[in-house]
Amino acid sequence: ENTTPLKLSVIGCGYLGAVHAASMAELGHEVVGIEVDVAKAESLAAGRVPFFEPGFEELLRRSLDSGRLSFSSDMADARGAAAHFVCVGTPQRRGEYAADLTYVEAATASLIEVLGPGELVVGKSTVPVGTAARLAEQVAARVPGAALAWNPEFLREGYAVQDTLHPDRLVYGVPSLSGADTAVDAEKVLDTVYARIVADGTPKVVTDYATAEMVKTAANSFLATKISFINAMAELCEATGADVKQLADAIGHDDRIGRKFLNAGLGFGGGCLPKDIRAFMARAGELGADQALTFLREVDNINMRRRIRMVELARQVCDDSLLGKRIAVLGAAFKPDSDDIRDSPALNVAAQLQLQGANVRVTDPQALPNVRRHWSQLDCVDTPEEAAEGADAVLLLTEWKQYRELDPGSFGKVVKTRRVLDGRNALDREAWESAGWTYRALGRRN
Ligand code: UGA
Repeated sequence: ENTTPLKLSVIGCGYLGAVHAASMAELGHEVVGIEVDVAKAESLAAGRVPFFEPGFEELLRRSLDSGRLSFSSDMADARGAAAHFVCVGTPQRRGEYAADLTYVEAATASLIEVLGPGELVVGKSTVPVGTAARLAEQVAARVPGAALAWNPEFLREGYAVQDTLHPDRLVYGVPSLSGADTAVDAEKVLDTVYARIVADGTPKVVTDYATAEMVKTAANSFLATKISFINAMAELCEATGADVKQLADAIGHDDRIGRKFLNAGLGFGGGCLPKDIRAFMARAGELGADQALTFLREVDNINMRRRIRMVELARQVCDDSLLGKRIAVLGAAFKPDSDDIRDSPALNVAAQLQLQGANVRVTDPQALPNVRRHWSQLDCVDTPEEAAEGADAVLLLTEWKQYRELDPGSFGKVVKTRRVLDGRNALDREAWESAGWTYRALGRRN
């Protein structure tokens, strides 16, 4: 063990904060998670995870049992920590592209009330470039001797624990490189926090605030662009009879391109990629550099067009009318191994089908409680078999393992007509076709 234990606080215990807090305790630090939602704080303190994330409950319980992790709704309990991680959300503003910084600003303001000299505020939330410099000024003005660093987080839902404890890289935006006075040696504090990760040889980039903030949005923009690139190719494949999956395999063999994130289908959703590219465009506009990012508008357009195309395809296979047709929707989460339904392509398609008169039944292994809470107009059922009972068509919209592994033979017995639309290019086409299904997919020969 090469960890010098520090006292740390984590402000905001949503997805990012809860995982960060438990992971830092796992690394040997004494951590308090501050969460304004009392029920959420109590649930976490009792070892109950308010969302689905593989492996997280075990980590949370281990950290609680070690006595190094606690939760509180009182900011005063953050007092005296060497580093305070700000992990609150930055959602898209209603009716606008820009990010809503209300939570980041409120969290920082209330943290400043308890902050002491020599302590470091560490921003982890995804923010528009320029935010860190502004917050650093507030910290310096109110608490001389305290400082701020920006340390973006790259975790993926479904792999949150692994990504936090074994990240691809560490990025520190520090005051000295941003031209600010260095009251605290931010790099040294962060190196102490992440000692075990640093010792693993994890690449580290120490830079100024603006670069650190931009690394995050640039990375997510690149990933979104990669997905939309292959989905644009899918549109062309549909027009020419080419096969996007083989195309992706073939171009992916060039390791300058790489096969990852080239899965064509319904496209990206979730709480990050869509809002991050929009906030990035909005910020570029404010900076007078909007031209640099106009391509992201196209990335967004390509992505949204896939959802429309999926609905069209469903109408086509249902003899050109969705009215009164029974449609089974497999998957509601924005991606497998998550119960997150924020901007879920699957639910967007399900709702459009319903608007066009189809009788839609949605199923998902984890996300149904969230669907019932936020999309009460959709009919939810627990199993794929119930969803497919008497169906005119089955749509795979989120590629959960249990759906990829369905046996097309026995599954075919419950439907009215064996038609399957593979919205994620995830099914074994031959197996389904040889079981008598009509198979259609985005970007494939039909
Ligand atoms: C994304 C990034 O991958 C993380 O690195 C980042 O930290 C995170 O956002 C964030 O900003 O917090 P996440 O939203 O969990 O992570 O999900 P991804 O695995 O990136 O998937 C995003 C969407 O793209 C999903 O809807 C997925 O179905 C879709 N996707 C992904 C494709 O359509 N094709 C692909 O080839 C890959």
